[in-house]
Amino acid sequence: MKAIASAPAKMILFGEHSVVYGEPAIAGAVNKRAYVEIKKSYNDKSILKSYDLNFEVELDTRNKSYILKKGKPGIIRYILEAFYRVHDHSPIVMTLSSEIPIGSGLGSSAAVTVATLAALYRYHNIRFNKKSLAHDAHMVEQAVQGVASPLDTLVSTYGGLVYLSRNKTFEPFRVNFNAPFVVGYTNKHGNTGKMVKDVRSLKNRNSKVINPVITAMGNLTNYAKQAILKQDYSKIGELMNINHGFLDVLGVNTVELSRMVYAARECGAIGSKITGAGGGGSIIALCPGKSKEVARGIAKEDNVLQVNFTKRGVSSRV
Ligand code: MEV
Repeated sequence: MKAIASAPAKMILFGEHSVVYGEPAIAGAVNKRAYVEIKKSYNDKSILKSYDLNFEVELDTRNKSYILKKGKPGIIRYILEAFYRVHDHSPIVMTLSSEIPIGSGLGSSAAVTVATLAALYRYHNIRFNKKSLAHDAHMVEQAVQGVASPLDTLVSTYGGLVYLSRNKTFEPFRVNFNAPFVVGYTNKHGNTGKMVKDVRSLKNRNSKVINPVITAMGNLTNYAKQAILKQDYSKIGELMNINHGFLDVLGVNTVELSRMVYAARECGAIGSKITGAGGGGSIIALCPGKSKEVARGIAKEDNVLQVNFTKRGVSSRV
């Protein structure tokens, strides 16, 4: 028996970090995916491996730990957290592959978590639906990161472009928003858990300054929702630039990210900002008619992806 699942990466347009404090956010699934395959092992060992991420571990299911055989499995904490919530002791071989750069701010951990849980549920014939899967994946992210909003796992499960409101209602956008985005990612991996904790301590140390910034980020996201509904690209771009300034205030910017954000604007992007947790990871640039120029302009030392939103969320089968 073999179970297969895949889930998409996500791009946060507005509201990273402020969403952790209950403010709204807008994010969409993009056309890069993580894939997980689970099959029975024909010896008594359980193996987790990835050819493209170049690692292999032997799972010690009795002690809920692992023995490293090869490489550095950066994403493994999410996989193990998902695995030990669902799996029994039967030996399996689990293979992960990912088109999403790990630690890039594009939701690799959420996509891997959602795909791992869906594959495990299929393998064990456990009933699930998108609501329960998004919930369980959020629990895994929270267990690994300490604090996590439900945003990344929701988007990776349901797909599409979504608005998460202040009271955590989740609304898909009905408009067809096909704006061209360029993603530039640095070689430095962002650590979401650490970045979220750093913002929290900045906020605790300077609450009277940072609390209004977080509220303003939420108000900005609500303006952005209206701009997206009207397909008003120049307003969206302006709001992205303001949002980047707020993220800088929260201390999640880096020299490399800044360089790409401003290079993108110089090459014709109408808006550019960090996407995701920051501290490394990626920037996004909205650049209608200028994608090639922007990609070339920011790619000198960095990696570039041209991504599109996709309606396709998690998919799984046996
Ligand atoms: C990470 O992709 C987004 C953050 O807002 C954290 C979260 O929402 O859990 C930084």
